[in-house]
Amino acid sequence: MTGKLYIGTNTKMFQTGTEAETYIRKMDDLIDDIRDRLEFFFIPSFTSLERSVRAVGDRIRIGAQNMAWEDRGQFTGEVSPLMLEEIGVRFVLIGHSERRHVFGETDGMEAAKVRLAADHGFTVLLCVGETAEQKDAGRSIQAVREQLEKAAGVLGPEEARERLWIGYEPVWAIGTSGVPASASYAEDMHGAIKGVLRQMFDGDGAEIPVLYGGSVNASNAPEIIARDGIDGLFIGRSAWDPDRFNGIIRSVLPVFESRASKQL
Ligand code: 13P
Repeated sequence: MTGKLYIGTNTKMFQTGTEAETYIRKMDDLIDDIRDRLEFFFIPSFTSLERSVRAVGDRIRIGAQNMAWEDRGQFTGEVSPLMLEEIGVRFVLIGHSERRHVFGETDGMEAAKVRLAADHGFTVLLCVGETAEQKDAGRSIQAVREQLEKAAGVLGPEEARERLWIGYEPVWAIGTSGVPASASYAEDMHGAIKGVLRQMFDGDGAEIPVLYGGSVNASNAPEIIARDGIDGLFIGRSAWDPDRFNGIIRSVLPVFESRASKQL
């Protein structure tokens, strides 16, 4: 972890290339005076990646929403890490809830992607999160533990510390029909995830940032970021208007920094 606030957005299957470029140019201006205090990232559609990289260079970390688990092959419709590297993308989202639950990706697939991404020196934002059924059955921690062990267990401690970020996104909290997790529930789950990471990677595990995502908005963001173990926010809908997103970032940054300074 860098001591900075991890914050960014995934635009899912919204925003054309033109829209994404306009958006990220505006965000680049809006966060200019605070960018050194942020690990800010933008994860647009594949067709928006190259122009987003061109628009903001290395001032903003640009990531892909998915990646194939092989460098090349007969995988119609997939995008290889070689293709991402070629356009300057070195950050990838793996195992988003929509990939797992809409497109049927398994932990085995996520593990292969995580391994290949690390081999290419990418930073990986690996998403984990329990379903409503798992939560109701009292199996939330067990569910995320399994996802972490299977998908991130392919990494050694040092590469996990250097390359791995975790997005904790409870499936029931994401999207238009989602209900945001309470701050205390998120805090408990982050504590459990950090415990699993420490078991998996010893001291290196304690350095892996864990971001919360799922219906984060202007009203709940400050109370969520005030909680221990929450190193950042991964936001969908509420981040897609630049001024609104900038407002959220500015409201949570002092809360995060004051919490971080107390922990020193
Ligand atoms: P929402 O903030 O729209 O619930 O989406 C969260 C998410 O899935 C980010 O990847």
